[in-house]
Amino acid sequence: MSVPILQVKKVSRNFGSFKALTNVSVDFAAHQLVAIIGPNGAGKSTFFNTLSGALVPSSGKVLFEGQDITALKQHEYARRGIAKSFQITNVFKQLSVHENVRVATQMGYARFNIFTPRSKLRPAIDEADALLDRVGLLALRNKTVGDLAHGQQRSLEIAMALAANPKLLLMDEPTAGMSPEETTAMMALITTLAKERTVILVEHKMKLVMGICDRLIVLHHGELLAQGSPEDIRNNDEVRRVYLGQG
Ligand SMILES: Nc1ncnc2c1ncn2[C@@H]1O[C@H](COP(=O)(O)OP(=O)(O)OP(=O)(O)O)[C@@H](O)[C@H]1O
Ligand SMILES: [Mg+2]
Repeated sequence: MSVPILQVKKVSRNFGSFKALTNVSVDFAAHQLVAIIGPNGAGKSTFFNTLSGALVPSSGKVLFEGQDITALKQHEYARRGIAKSFQITNVFKQLSVHENVRVATQMGYARFNIFTPRSKLRPAIDEADALLDRVGLLALRNKTVGDLAHGQQRSLEIAMALAANPKLLLMDEPTAGMSPEETTAMMALITTLAKERTVILVEHKMKLVMGICDRLIVLHHGELLAQGSPEDIRNNDEVRRVYLGQG
C-alpha cells in the first residue's frame, strides 16, 4: 500500500456499557474508493463518525496524513482537507441551487460582505457553476433548493462539500432514500470523484459498491470482520455467512 492518508488505530466506542465499536484498526490508502459495509447495527455509522470527527472514540486514535486528528474540532477537519457530505442542515432550502454552492465557494476567497461589488464575486460564481456542472445540476442552478428532488439535494450537498477541494471525502449512505435511477447516477458521480481524491463511503447494500470500490471494509457487531478487494470480500466465507438472507 502507498502511504496511507488515513489511519485508524484500535478505535473503540462505547455508548454506556454497550460496545458499538471494538478495537478497529484500518489503513486507508490515498486516492482509493473504499466502502464500509456490514449489516444493520454493525457499527458502520459509529465508525464513520469517528473518522469524520463527529464522534470522539472511547479509545484509540485516528491519524490523517500521519497527524493525530482524534477529537479535533470540526472546523479543523475541514481545514486539513476532510469533507463530509450530507450535512443536510448546511443546505439553505429557501435559496437557489447556485446561491447555496456560492456560499461554499466564497469561503475560499477574500472577505465578502453586502457591499462587495458583483465583479469581485465572479470567481466564486464561476466556480460554483463549475461544481454544479460536475454533479449534473447546472441546468437547475436557479431553482429553489426546497423544490429539488431528494437525489438532487444530495448531489447539491456533494457540490458544496467539493467547494473546499477536499483531499478526503466522507459519505454516509449517499444513496439512502434514492430511486434506482438516482442511485445509478450517484454511484457514477462517486466513481468520477474518486479519481481525484480519496473517498470513503458507508453503504448498507453490498452489491451497490462491489463494482466500483477499490477496497471494502466489513464490520460486524462493532468489529472488523474482513477487509480487502471486492474479489476477496466476495469469496470470504464469513462475510457470506453474515450477509446470508440479507439480499
Ligand atoms: N448514540 C447512541 N447511543 C446508544 N447506542 C447507539 C448510539 N449510536 C449507535 N448506537 C448503537 O450502536 C450500534 C451500531 O450502530 P450504528 O448506527 O453504528 O450501526 P450501522 O452499521 O450504521 O447500522 P445501519 O445499517 O442501521 O445504519 C447499534 O446497536 C446502535 O443501536
Ligand atoms: Mg448507519
